[in-house]
Amino acid sequence: MNPLNHVAIIMDGNGRWGLKNKNSRNLGHSEGLKVVEYIIQETIKKKIKFLTLFAFSTENWKRPSYEINYLLNLLEKFLKEKAKKFSKEDIKLKIIGKKKFSNKLNKLLTEAEKKTSNNKKLQINLALNYGSKDELIHAVKHISKKKEAINQKNFEKYLFTKNIPDPDILIRTGNHNRLSNFLLWQLAYSEIFFIKKLWPDFNIQDYRKIIYKFKKIKRNFGNI
Ligand code: FPP
Repeated sequence: MNPLNHVAIIMDGNGRWGLKNKNSRNLGHSEGLKVVEYIIQETIKKKIKFLTLFAFSTENWKRPSYEINYLLNLLEKFLKEKAKKFSKEDIKLKIIGKKKFSNKLNKLLTEAEKKTSNNKKLQINLALNYGSKDELIHAVKHISKKKEAINQKNFEKYLFTKNIPDPDILIRTGNHNRLSNFLLWQLAYSEIFFIKKLWPDFNIQDYRKIIYKFKKIKRNFGNI
């Protein structure tokens, strides 16, 4: 049985779900947030130590401002409501990506990271204003200023995911089979599950089935 330390998720399909069911893309995002909450609880139950959620990409700034604002407001609400709960539940929050939001939101994010920094049960990495190509360029710029050898181990110290093990599983809902600039370095050996369902329809049974399947896969990492 494979050990499972880290699950990463591209939560795709909120917009389509919202249009189909509520005539509003934004309401799809609200519904998506409910799924985030029970996936966090199930991740804790399964004793998985890291959960990385792609919540806002560097490319999402291209969306209309009413959708960007809605998403950022949801995030703000989520942080305000959950900060205390995270502390109680021993959850650590880490932001991966560049915090380039309003001062208010940047402050909330930094405070939530600080408040939860010693927590141990589960680390949630929230990918916000995150793009893997940006991250790789950031790492190259930083390592090239140092005198140390350029090798995989040293390079990883300059990624936003420093000290975080690579994901064992990547789940992408929403029926698109692509990575969309997410964790391109870190996913090199992850088991990838592309799911047809839209994110708001993804449920605990779907999550459990993926974990069950993953545990039985023969992972070779280039070996035989
Ligand atoms: C992709 O669906 C989803 C996003 C860009 C945002 C994900 C956000 C949430 C699940 C809610 C907020 C989460 C947190 C943790 C605060 P899409 O809009 O691209 O869907 P589409 O492919 O149907 O257009």
